[in-house]
Amino acid sequence: MEIRLGLCTLRPWRLSDEQALAHHANNRKIWRNLRDAFPHPYDELDAVAWIAKHVGVEPVRFFAIDHEGELAGSIAIVQESDVHARSAEIGYFVAEPFWGRGIATQAVRGISAYAFDTIPELARLHAAVFEWNRASMRVLEKAGFECEGVLRQSIWKDGALVNSMLYAKLRP
Ligand SMILES: CC(C)(COP(=O)(O)OP(=O)(O)OC[C@H]1O[C@@H](n2cnc3c(N)ncnc32)[C@H](O)[C@@H]1OP(=O)(O)O)[C@@H](O)C(=O)NCCC(=O)NCCS
Repeated sequence: MEIRLGLCTLRPWRLSDEQALAHHANNRKIWRNLRDAFPHPYDELDAVAWIAKHVGVEPVRFFAIDHEGELAGSIAIVQESDVHARSAEIGYFVAEPFWGRGIATQAVRGISAYAFDTIPELARLHAAVFEWNRASMRVLEKAGFECEGVLRQSIWKDGALVNSMLYAKLRP
């Protein structure tokens, strides 16, 4: 299962991604914009555990972002449960050497289309962006997400209590 896009391909994780994942994910600028469940420092054992968890799992919901054969990031959709079961959260990072080339925007567009195509009951995709993360807000806007509001003081990250911005896209 691969989603081929112009600038990148979204593909399943491979055991051979371990070294590149450990290298790129060990970045405070990435950690600072993700949940604390994302380790920092990020070492090879973290990469091994991540890949072991996701390799071979069907249907594929956790993708590696591949740029010209190199690992360039990670993107995933996680369906919610209970009364939120028709929503899914989208999460992603692009490795710093690949920033500013439009890769995240294309990956978010690609996985959004895939999510609505392959999960018939899905009504909504969403992401809550920390208030300092203008780049990710821009990515979501370019990918057709709308800002629905501010979740005030919803995030405790890096020693600060901050707002997050709720972005969502409904089934087209
Ligand atoms: C956010 C992130 C995914 C962006 O990846 P990317 O591949 O560089 O994104 P794109 O190139 O598709 O688009 C970035 C956009 O943000 C803009 N941007 C970058 N830094 C910015 C800033 N400080 N303020 C405002 N806009 C900014 C770029 O100019 C570009 O918009 P443009 O095309 O209108 O010029 C990447 O920086 C990252 O992985 N960050 C850490 C993890 C993270 O934030 N994940 C998302 C959590 S919600």
